[in-house]
Amino acid sequence: MSGARESVHGEWSGSVFFVLAATGSAVGLGNLWRFPYLVGDNGGGAFVLIYLLCILLVGLPIMMAEILIGRRGRHSPINSLRLIARDEGLSPAWQGLGWLGVAAGFMILSFYSVVGGWALYYAFEAVQGGFQGMDSDGAGALFEGLVASPALVVIWHTAFLLLLFGIVAAGVRRGLQRAVTWLMPLLFLLLVVLVLYGMTSSGFAETLTFMFRPDFSVVDGGTVLTALGQAFFTLSLGMGAIMVYGAYLPARSSIPGNTTWIVGMDTLTAIIAGLAIFPIVFSAGMEPGQGPGLVFVTLPVVFAEIAFGSLLGIAFFLLLSVAAITSGISLLEPAVAYLKERSGLSRTAAAGFITVAIWLLGIAAGLSLNAWADVRLLPFADLGIFDLLEFVSNDIMLPLGGLLIAVFAAWRVSAETRLAELGMQADSFRYRAWLLVTRFLAPAAVVLVFLNALGLFG
Ligand code: PFF
Repeated sequence: MSGARESVHGEWSGSVFFVLAATGSAVGLGNLWRFPYLVGDNGGGAFVLIYLLCILLVGLPIMMAEILIGRRGRHSPINSLRLIARDEGLSPAWQGLGWLGVAAGFMILSFYSVVGGWALYYAFEAVQGGFQGMDSDGAGALFEGLVASPALVVIWHTAFLLLLFGIVAAGVRRGLQRAVTWLMPLLFLLLVVLVLYGMTSSGFAETLTFMFRPDFSVVDGGTVLTALGQAFFTLSLGMGAIMVYGAYLPARSSIPGNTTWIVGMDTLTAIIAGLAIFPIVFSAGMEPGQGPGLVFVTLPVVFAEIAFGSLLGIAFFLLLSVAAITSGISLLEPAVAYLKERSGLSRTAAAGFITVAIWLLGIAAGLSLNAWADVRLLPFADLGIFDLLEFVSNDIMLPLGGLLIAVFAAWRVSAETRLAELGMQADSFRYRAWLLVTRFLAPAAVVLVFLNALGLFG
């Protein structure tokens, strides 16, 4: 029977709320900020195709594995792994996987909050009418001005984390459920408006070619690693965020069904974001490979042109901040839940301690874009602090975490546990397919991509 244990942190009041919360975690800056710029930097269609394959063949089965472990353990990822390992006579070292996730969450949230701060700053600029009459040069200058200013970057990073902490302290359930039930669909609607606007522009045909006609000559091992890392990042996988949400999932709720919804909505949002942003890029004759500034140097141009642009601009960047906050909450949750279990601190106090640590690391990430641009922490990697945090957490730690999660769920845990949690029959096609993919394909894909990125295949 599933749900032999009860969650010490309470439960979602139904499957819908789990799906909403997990979608709130998945849909965020990864879809609207990171996905478009990675597509731009990595040459378009081939990247999109590899990314979609990674989502389907690696992300989807691993998400099921994460939820399965979470619901069986009913605790923070660290303790869930420890308890399941104990119940099933496995090595206690498996809880190390939970610690890997907590470390990844700290690193991700530190730079995530810097970018969340940019979204807030843009909402603020829009309120002040800052996008009026803006062309692509003006938009570029606005973004460069922001990133080059240590004070602005640190102030808005601080504002983002304060908001995030305020919501966590006020009670995640109420705030989070409201945000994902009403505000996220609104954000999606706004994106659709932007796509419709893009369809009328001269850059739309080129957008379709760019995003959907693969040119494999631009692909190398690094591209595939980036696509895989992005698949984990966008689905919030490999660090326990979805696992901890799964710990609060009611016993009777269907894991495969919920997973399909979450993955579907996340993927749709990313594609729609691309369709909203690239028409602006091509119509204005900009370069798609703009790097991390892409959303911020394109969208203000449309808001300057479109009817009700200032209002839509305010709404868009506020909603983007909300999307980032619902993801940020899930980045905090594995560590908060653990600290609460371990110390008996209140949720607010636990979140407070962790937020301060992330705030400090985030300041280092933010300053590395300006004042500390030349600082290199690793002598052999020519990456600033921001880029290093992003690379190590997204492209290394998440896929590695995902690999270990797949091994734990598909090889180490008993078949009885797997079947009970997934609600499947041992001889059903669905179960066999999941087991095959999670046992062999997903781990092999991660290992091959790692080896390939190391240049081992010449
Ligand atoms: N999935 C989020 C996004 O796409 O913005 C980012 C994220 C949240 C990554 C939670 C990892 C995580 F655990």
